[in-house]
Amino acid sequence: MKAKASDMHSKDCVKVAVRVRPFNKRERDAGGHCVVSMASSSITIQDPRDPQNRRLFCFDYAYWSHSGFSQDRRGLYVPEEAGGRYADQDSVFQDLGEGILENALQGYNATLLAYGQTGSGKSYSMVGYGPNKGLVPKLCERLFEAIGENKDTRQCQVFFSMMEIYNEQVIDLLSRGSRTSGGLRVREEQQRGFYVEGFRTVPCDSAQQVEQLMEQGTRTRTTAATHMNANSSRSHMLIILQLKQIFSKESITKQSNINLVDLAGSERQRSSGSEADRLKEGTAINLSLTTLGNVISALADVAVGKRVVHVPYRDSILTKLLQSALGGNSRTVMIATLSPADICYEESLSTLRYAERAKRIQNRAVVNESPTERLVKELKAENAKLLQRLSRLGHEGRRAHDETKELRQLLTHNELQIKAIQTLWEQHLQEALKDWEQQYANITQERRMMQMHPYILNVNEDAQLSGVVKLFIQEGEWDIGLGDSSPRSVSIKGLGIQERHAVFRNEQRRVTLTPQPGSKVIVNGHDVSETTELQHLDRLILGSNCTYLFVGYPSERGGEDWGRYDYDYFQSELAAAEGIHLGESSAGCSQTDPSLLAVFYDYIKLMPMVAEANQMSQELNKEVEFKLEIKNLALSDSKGHDLEKEIVVRVTSTERKQVWMWSKAKFVNRKFLMEEVYQQHQAEQTGVSRAEGLPAAALPRDKDPFWDPVEPLLLGYAHLWLQSLAFRIPLEEQLEVLGSEGTEEAILQAQLVPCNFTGLPLGEDDILIDPSELLGRRLDFQLVLEQCCGLRWIREARNRGVQFGFRLFDCSQPLYTPAVWHNVNPLLEHRVHFASLHTSQRLLDYLQSSAVVLELWGLQDGCTDLVSSLEGVRMTTEGVFIIDEEGPTNPAPVNSAELSCSVRALQQDVEELKSVNTSLRKENQSLREQLNTARNGGGGGRGRSVRPSSDAEFARALKVFYHSMTSVRAQLQRLRRHRPSEESDLLGLRLITDEQSRLLRDFSEQLEQSVSTLKQDVAAIVRRKRERSGIWS
Ligand SMILES: Nc1ncnc2c1ncn2[C@@H]1O[C@H](COP(=O)(O)OP(=O)(O)O)[C@@H](O)[C@H]1O
Ligand SMILES: [Mg+2]
Repeated sequence: MKAKASDMHSKDCVKVAVRVRPFNKRERDAGGHCVVSMASSSITIQDPRDPQNRRLFCFDYAYWSHSGFSQDRRGLYVPEEAGGRYADQDSVFQDLGEGILENALQGYNATLLAYGQTGSGKSYSMVGYGPNKGLVPKLCERLFEAIGENKDTRQCQVFFSMMEIYNEQVIDLLSRGSRTSGGLRVREEQQRGFYVEGFRTVPCDSAQQVEQLMEQGTRTRTTAATHMNANSSRSHMLIILQLKQIFSKESITKQSNINLVDLAGSERQRSSGSEADRLKEGTAINLSLTTLGNVISALADVAVGKRVVHVPYRDSILTKLLQSALGGNSRTVMIATLSPADICYEESLSTLRYAERAKRIQNRAVVNESPTERLVKELKAENAKLLQRLSRLGHEGRRAHDETKELRQLLTHNELQIKAIQTLWEQHLQEALKDWEQQYANITQERRMMQMHPYILNVNEDAQLSGVVKLFIQEGEWDIGLGDSSPRSVSIKGLGIQERHAVFRNEQRRVTLTPQPGSKVIVNGHDVSETTELQHLDRLILGSNCTYLFVGYPSERGGEDWGRYDYDYFQSELAAAEGIHLGESSAGCSQTDPSLLAVFYDYIKLMPMVAEANQMSQELNKEVEFKLEIKNLALSDSKGHDLEKEIVVRVTSTERKQVWMWSKAKFVNRKFLMEEVYQQHQAEQTGVSRAEGLPAAALPRDKDPFWDPVEPLLLGYAHLWLQSLAFRIPLEEQLEVLGSEGTEEAILQAQLVPCNFTGLPLGEDDILIDPSELLGRRLDFQLVLEQCCGLRWIREARNRGVQFGFRLFDCSQPLYTPAVWHNVNPLLEHRVHFASLHTSQRLLDYLQSSAVVLELWGLQDGCTDLVSSLEGVRMTTEGVFIIDEEGPTNPAPVNSAELSCSVRALQQDVEELKSVNTSLRKENQSLREQLNTARNGGGGGRGRSVRPSSDAEFARALKVFYHSMTSVRAQLQRLRRHRPSEESDLLGLRLITDEQSRLLRDFSEQLEQSVSTLKQDVAAIVRRKRERSGIWS
């Protein structure tokens, strides 16, 4: 409803509160640190990686609900000591709820929004859990109290509605009929603004009634989520309380709408890879939340006086419905909820930024009067006049009889009209109460059943939706599945549920479960196919991911806490059965690496999603399979550091064996798109809608979330250490190419050949004792990739090919070898000449401490080769790649003065080099002579230019040095290859990697040491030689 602008209006800023919750189990297990602190209404958040980096935000209210609380006998969380800082549900209501109630009673519209990442406490604050009632139920309680208190002055009518916005569809959560496909329509009217057409508004006259309706709504939400395979964290829950107050004495009516919105999870799927998903824009799932952000930004700009052309209210359903709450006729409060943990820092910071913008928005709220009520007022006024005239006529005797009759008729007519307007409410209320009594009877019945029979209880990822559905297993035999035709069937819906999925038998107070052929049943983490007897608190997973807790006969139920069997528990148990678990001993102790825990939780979060994706793929005949993999990022680091691990999803087409690797973010995004496709397909199947759109199976490829163009796939990496180049020592290696899971993908023969600028290999004479001699000089070398052997990728399917890609030092673009196809042991014979014209300390440091990472790319049927882009790559006319030039930090055009200066420097260098060259040549000459006299033959090497060794002792020392280097490196390689056995769990993996990286460090130190001692040895030899021969004196 839009109220006319009146002079009563005033500007109100959106009030913003922040609240931080206690650590949850995951965060506690991870040894999480609290990164937020609060002082009065300000909040500080600290970057866990840079503790100096703190951000301060100020809001209207800041609630510390993180610590300093205890649970009282009723189960309420209360401050540990009276007057403690802990903000409980009551104190939050005092500040926010009372204000909203006050506003509503005055006739203003009011809106309360809860914003924050999934699991941060939005629903806890809005709805609450168990005895810890949230803002909505408390508000209703107080509202009906206030109504009671003001009974004498006004008549009040309360209407309750509850809906959900999921994927831009509005679903009425109180609807009794079947769901309309495509959701309810949102319409716009001049007077009312945007509104939802045809949603159920239920008249209420007690808080219990409202609570019960909320329960009903939550139940609908839960079943809709499992039936449609939708995720509640992606949906917005909207409760609308309409309050009408009729002040009979003053003949005014006030009407206010209270919008209570539990928003979808605010988390953004940060793409970990650089790739942006082709279908990123295609998803409408988060459209409403994104648009809300845009609207808030625009309005915040308006508030600071920026010119804003357009506020995009119309871009999404949510913002249409909240138009009056944002920058319009409403008094609005936002509660932003935060996780305290360091691992949520990024999300929490983004929530705080969002809230800060919201706080600038200005609304213009007015007291509302509706036309219907004005009519009553007018009718009443007219009646009053009529009555006056009547009484006057009464005194004037019989003459007025006719007029009196007419007036009386008018009067009755008016009164009837007034009655009609008012009794409508009474009537509706009566109907609603009947309905409510029916529901109430159902609930009482359910409570009784719970005390008599075993049952299964739904467990949802969203704690708010857990424990809502109870399915009773009474004496006898019960089919559980999609089918609901027989009276002895328990109907459930969900992904991968068969018509007749399993059979429960309840005989002699023992309950067994028998899966039907072809259906998936998991009990306590293990697949079962035989009849299994169920124990109290067994965990059942039916189909892809319908999770239930089995509750035995009341006699078996102890006082245990069922709350521990939450969704995480189910998934961890399942992961443990797959061999991925965190050891019991590690739980709760801070020894487990938090990054490893993060991977573990990613894994258990994605696991059910992968199961669901596979099920959808199967049902839609998509012929792709999804599988989770743990990718080790260490392998891609040029310094070989042990970085974090990451979860990726391997997608394989079952027929053509094409492979794709999706990042976690991409998979999560795609999964939601798959759900959309699946939901549409289901709707078509059930014939509910044969409306718009193609059948899901025939979805055009560019819109198909199961499909992607075939691309080269990164199979693994090999590291070629560059240190030998710093000494101008050639290096030949057999490298193991390791896949991201530590698998051996291939063996690669590679060389590093120091050479002159024409590409001629240097000899032993050119070996440097001190790498710093290279400083400022030109260094040429070639990277040779000779052959690749034992390619697993090709062995798996012959119609594939490979390429290697690599990038050296500052090169902006990777270079690729030409593609080779169909060969398990292809010859590559790829030689690239690199040069640094002016070797800098930085390059020298790089050579001494880094490896060139050789990426093995898999090509598959239908994909194009990777080509080296030469854009921004510096090359000489002879095709030599320049990897280092002075001043890469100063790419600005140099002026001619600078140029001539550097030319002069270069000339000087050249001169210097020339003189060095001549002296070296002289030295060579004399050494050769000495050698000849000592009668000594030169060694040779694989067709390269053979030069006689200049100094046997010298050369030997260098060889020893070189060999020791290679042997140490080989040892290193072996270490890197050293892998845990197939069945090791994640913790085992972790221990091994830790051990490995420690050993690696030791080895590289050893290497360093051998380099420096040998350097000293060689220097000593040279010194001795010098002294002995006197040739350099
Ligand atoms: N202030 C709080 N005090 C105690 N527990 C909380 C608090 N806020 C949230 N929780 C708990 O954290 C979990 C997630 O909260 P929930 O409100 O469902 O998150 P959201 O709705 O934001 O996804 C629930 O188990 C809830 O009980
Ligand atoms: Mg929630």
